[in-house]
Amino acid sequence: MLIKHEADIPSSEITDKKVYVNRRDFIRAAAGTAVAAAGVGLVPGAAALLQAATPAPHGRKLENVKPSAFSTQEKLNTWEQITTYNNFYEFGTDKDSPSMLAHSMKTEPWTLAVEGECNKPATYHLEDILKGVTLEDRIYRHRCVEGWSMVIPWVGFPLGDLIKRCEPTSKAQFVEFTTLYDPKQMPGTRLPAVLGGLNWPYREGLRMDEAMHPLAILAVGLYGEVMPNQDGAPIRLHVPWKYGFKSVKSIVKIRFVEKQPTTTWMQAAPEYYSFYSNVNPGRTNSTFRDQSTERRLPSFFASYKTQMFNGYGDQVASLYAGMDLRKNF
Ligand code: MTE
Repeated sequence: MLIKHEADIPSSEITDKKVYVNRRDFIRAAAGTAVAAAGVGLVPGAAALLQAATPAPHGRKLENVKPSAFSTQEKLNTWEQITTYNNFYEFGTDKDSPSMLAHSMKTEPWTLAVEGECNKPATYHLEDILKGVTLEDRIYRHRCVEGWSMVIPWVGFPLGDLIKRCEPTSKAQFVEFTTLYDPKQMPGTRLPAVLGGLNWPYREGLRMDEAMHPLAILAVGLYGEVMPNQDGAPIRLHVPWKYGFKSVKSIVKIRFVEKQPTTTWMQAAPEYYSFYSNVNPGRTNSTFRDQSTERRLPSFFASYKTQMFNGYGDQVASLYAGMDLRKNF
């Protein structure tokens, strides 16, 4: 996510097309300068930034996927849109970069380490985690803090089901997620901070009751097929009432902890990104843009009114009863 200070954004500039185009121009220009200076081969991802986006190839069909009452009936974004417009900074900051660079990420075999305050800490093979799990279609709204949104048919299962199997102790108040960090496979992790480098690995967290909420899922597929790499293969989180950056991709570790974890974006820009990061159209003073409207892709116009908790308030508002959501943004 581009971090812009509010004073730098006159309201006249908060049309998403401009933000989007300016951001790409900036990154392309920076990449171009770097390429000229250092040669394409030396600048990770720079060559790809100058090419076109590539939709993911279709993958293996997932079996026995059940429908879910939690799915929205809204019009779906297409496979092409969902797999070419991505945020996956490990592959670069441009929306196109993950579609061009993530295909070589090795997702098999894959293990998930379970650590911390639980009775079943171990490193589990993904196929063992998926044994006996009932996969569901979960068609969710997906709202990025940058102001764009999509409707995505994920395939997954409740995060809470996995958590129960780990048997967290009474000390476990939060769950921390860590994602794959492999500079050899992930050119974006070799970028300097000025070009979008973060404090890797990408980490996120949820309060235990948020993590146990039936809407929070671990997604392993899209449109009934295995998850494309650019969307977070082989296993990612999706928490539909929060801004998209909470929904971490390519998870390698979950850890049960007593204290609220510090997340990657809280470290990068604490004035903009806080632990909760619930979608909140009323909170415009600290995120880097006005959050009252959104651009439902592929539209360039922010003609959708953003809903509190991304429209999932009936199900999740009670999690935050009594909390000041302006402080806990
Ligand atoms: N997970 C990892 N590991 N790295 C990332 O850069 N970006 C986040 C989130 N998960 C990100 C990540 C952000 S900012 C968003 S909006 C969503 O992934 C984007 O998911 P999508 O590309 O599948 O739409």
